[in-house]
Amino acid sequence: MELNRTFPYQGATYSTTQTADTLPRHRWYLIKEGFSSKLVEAAIDGASLRSPDMVFDPFSGCGTVALTAAQHGLSAAGIEVNPFLAFVSQTKLATCNTQKLLASSEKVLAAVLKPRPAKSPLEGYSTFSQSGERSKWLFNSEVLRAFETGWHATATAGPRQRRFLRLALVKAAMDSCNATADGKCLRYRKNWKECAFDRFSVGESFERYASNIAEDIDEVRLSGSGIVYSGDARSLITSMRRRFRLCVTSPPYLNSFDYSDVYRPELFLANFVKNTAELRRIRLRTIRSHVQVRWEPPTKSDFGEIYTRTAKDLREVQANLWDSHIPLMVQAYFEDMSLILRNLYRLAAKDAQLWLVVSTSAYGGVEIPVDMILAEVAVRSGWYLKEIGIVRHMRHSGHHWMRLPDKERAEAKLREAVVVLTRIPV
Ligand SMILES: C[S@@+](CC[C@H](N)C(=O)[O-])C[C@H]1O[C@@H](n2cnc3c(N)ncnc32)[C@H](O)[C@@H]1O
Repeated sequence: MELNRTFPYQGATYSTTQTADTLPRHRWYLIKEGFSSKLVEAAIDGASLRSPDMVFDPFSGCGTVALTAAQHGLSAAGIEVNPFLAFVSQTKLATCNTQKLLASSEKVLAAVLKPRPAKSPLEGYSTFSQSGERSKWLFNSEVLRAFETGWHATATAGPRQRRFLRLALVKAAMDSCNATADGKCLRYRKNWKECAFDRFSVGESFERYASNIAEDIDEVRLSGSGIVYSGDARSLITSMRRRFRLCVTSPPYLNSFDYSDVYRPELFLANFVKNTAELRRIRLRTIRSHVQVRWEPPTKSDFGEIYTRTAKDLREVQANLWDSHIPLMVQAYFEDMSLILRNLYRLAAKDAQLWLVVSTSAYGGVEIPVDMILAEVAVRSGWYLKEIGIVRHMRHSGHHWMRLPDKERAEAKLREAVVVLTRIPV
């Protein structure tokens, strides 16, 4: 299978959100695993879409696809399993009276800065605050209390304003979190104790984010519209009926990271989750790309020749893998993705295009060419493969290449690519 090494959309400016922190609405909440609106714009241009054509993303993340489509006058639909990220996506598509928003944000700010704030239910829970002998904790108690008091104040805002205030407040609290999300896990800031985050740091960030949101709502009107559903794409997609002309999507990479863990603080802060049992329920609904929970074992394995070869190589190194469930996880991932690809085909308009943004992975020195395997799976569902365009190569410092000899390991890289598929031959 040929790879296009001269794909026109190459580099991190296409495959990451690194340039989005100045973009209106996008900047309200960004995630490390998101891609760039430039990539979505390239796909929209390539498919010559016009209002009211629909753009779909079953793995919405922080809403890059739906928002970009709505900014271009198109209609957008998305699905996202993480309820906090679904909320982020939905909020980026919403609008409200900004005079009222700014007036309410002053009340929330006053609550955040209150010298005698309410106690937070997260104090003493898990690693959320300092307690007992613990050497590290996510939030200083003053930060949790400022957040809690501010959160109560958001309830007094109008229903249209509330979601914006809550998003700004969660983002402000995360600025004052002692750890930051690095794409794989939460990592403590080097100097987190000296930072001594408090209600003033939360207030300062909140004021800035609330004013950014009001400014963006006024300056950038959405000419299209969108809706993002909160839930598991594997089940929700089967009940969808409206046909899309373009789907741009990036499923979880097959890299064994459980992102519901990375968003634990946001999920608890914004009340989407109240205990570990509820967090586990979200994990169980994610695509089977990690080994953090024990899933139902997969039953299918007919994912094409490249998969069959790769699965055999993986079984040969099974004894050396850091988790013996990895071969089953790989099989389960392609089982999930083949269900998604079949349903995408069913939902696609006659001339629709599908852009799948994926990365290869590696376990025990065996490379999993996820892009090629998904291309084969898609073709078996009826799609036509236009190309696999390489976006970039990435060094991989993790344990996945550890079993390779030193020289090979130094050169080993993972590949990020866009698998471009069409509903009819081109
Ligand atoms: C690579 S990220 C997508 C990022 C997105 N393109 C953006 O720019 O923000 C993959 C997303 O799929 C979501 N996800 C995982 N399993 C899912 C499922 N079963 N249904 C819907 N979304 C799921 C994850 O929570 C994550 O937000």
